[in-house]
Amino acid sequence: MYIFKDFYHNTVELSFEKHPFSTDPKHVWVICKYNDKWLLTDHQRRGYEFPGGKVEEGESPEQAAKREVLEETGGNVSTIHYLGQYRVTGRDKIIVKNIYFAEINELLTQKHYFETNGPVLISEFPPNIKKDRRFSFIMRDDVFSHSLSYLNTKVLDA
Ligand code: GTP
Repeated sequence: MYIFKDFYHNTVELSFEKHPFSTDPKHVWVICKYNDKWLLTDHQRRGYEFPGGKVEEGESPEQAAKREVLEETGGNVSTIHYLGQYRVTGRDKIIVKNIYFAEINELLTQKHYFETNGPVLISEFPPNIKKDRRFSFIMRDDVFSHSLSYLNTKVLDA
């Protein structure tokens, strides 16, 4: 379990165990790979970030993950793996978010990309991403670095 502060000084707890905080999380975040590039979205307010959002009524978190990827990037998910979960304790509310890793086999052009400007493909992240204001605050805390490290060490099941 990792515990740290985010960009807004909220406490974040992160774990790569199976559903440590909730079996029914209401938020999802999806680390996406398309060919040999990372697939992000350009959020109109927050900047570059991996796609994600809220789980809708009647949806499973995994279904929400696939929907958010399509809506925000046009990416069609071919495989998806649960990686971990984090809990952010803010002043007014607590959110729990599942982290997934998804492989994308096709980028479909969308009429609109919801609150984003659509897909952004990145070969390598800048080493100083925490200070890079082009990136969303959700990409600039330790969730990002720990998740990428975890992904690098984990052999994902088919
Ligand atoms: P919407 O405007 O409908 O999206 O609702 P909201 O602004 O209340 O946002 P949401 O419920 O998604 O999140 C509530 C708060 O949780 C945000 O203002 C953030 O401070 C925090 N939060 C949400 N997602 C993340 C995340 O991925 N990382 C971190 N560190 N904080 C997050």
